[in-house]
Amino acid sequence: MKILVTGGAGFIGSHVVVALVEAGHEPVIVDNFSNSNASVLGGLRKILGAKPNFYQLDYRDSEKLVGIIQAENIQGIIHFAAFKAVGESVAQPLKYYDNNVAGFISLLQAVEKLSMPIVFSSSCTVYGSPKTLPVTEETPWQPPTSPYGASKQMDEQILRNTTKVSGNLKSIALRYFNPIGAHPSGYIGELPIGTPNNLVPFLTQTVAGIRDRLTVFGNDYDTPDGSCIRDYIHVMDLADAHIQALEYLQEQAPGYCDVFNIGVGKGHSVLEVIKTFEQATGESVAFDIGPRRPGDVPAVYANVDKAHQVLGWRATRSLEKALRDAWHWQQKLR
Ligand code: NAD
Ligand code: WQD
Repeated sequence: MKILVTGGAGFIGSHVVVALVEAGHEPVIVDNFSNSNASVLGGLRKILGAKPNFYQLDYRDSEKLVGIIQAENIQGIIHFAAFKAVGESVAQPLKYYDNNVAGFISLLQAVEKLSMPIVFSSSCTVYGSPKTLPVTEETPWQPPTSPYGASKQMDEQILRNTTKVSGNLKSIALRYFNPIGAHPSGYIGELPIGTPNNLVPFLTQTVAGIRDRLTVFGNDYDTPDGSCIRDYIHVMDLADAHIQALEYLQEQAPGYCDVFNIGVGKGHSVLEVIKTFEQATGESVAFDIGPRRPGDVPAVYANVDKAHQVLGWRATRSLEKALRDAWHWQQKLR
């Protein structure tokens, strides 16, 4: 299938582009480089052995987007393009609602008359701070803790409502847990602009000498070692889930829509991540224990049975492998 990949120059999108090609599909990337740059296309070219099909465009420009969909004969969409920094979304909510919600509405308006499977990037952030663990797709949503989280909750509702009545669309929202790692080649990976907010890029930059020390945000949580617990998933496992979702959608009737948790199904604490990184790479991590980060959820990890049962997908790569690949990418970046 020829697949439009909005945000395909980003961290997750670029890895999905590789997985699409490996699965025999033809990705067409649309990205405005608001959180990425052209070097990603060079990395993709090295992995794929050919230049990726790329358009530099804001996906909110519906007229041009529809032109690309028609000219390229697009048969499906994977929608990654969005802003994702939780703290920034608190400071600049309109920027987030505009790109993540208004933009998504304009995308759906542009394609609702087309017979189109859509895979949407949702997030475990929709669960807020869950009352029970692991979270299943049925776990009730808690109030969002940021405009970013609110934007993903809204998008899921908009996608579900629209898919059900459009008569043409079919859709899957994938709720990613914590994607980490990089393509094993080291040619593509996560490219944070400025100081990273996320644990693994901050950790690898610290070991590379770009940052002085990693701060562990709190060791007084009600968890076995006191640090927060997350479900870290290798970005290539996450990428594979998109292929399974897309191929499953192909067999479904218009109007079908569903959601799936995409994680490993196991939680690891921040201190465990540091220890595992040291064991997997032989490097030591300089870190301090600091105060809690406001808004952090003590623990969240997924029940992934539904994705396994329905899509036939399951994560296969270990935390060690993900951390080794993240480190390999960081070393190549230098
Ligand atoms: P990313 O910032 O690396 O990638 C997003 C890409 O979209 C970037 O290349 C950016 O330039 C592009 N983009 C943004 N707005 C655009 C616009 N208006 N027009 C065209 N291109 C635009 O982020 P990522 O980590 O790859 O995340 C991809 C998706 O997955 C996002 O929707 C994000 O909310 C979601 N998600 C990410 C995580 C995570 O931890 N990385 C977790 C859960 C969900
Ligand atoms: C992981 C753990 C921190 C940095 C975010 C978004 C979420 C989703 C995934 C998009 C936490 C700790 C971190 C550091 C630390 N994204 N940490 N020192 O917060 O689980 O989730 O990304 O949808 O919406 O909120 O990820 O990587 O920031 O943090 O101790 O310097 O590492 O406290 O426990 P998080 P993260």
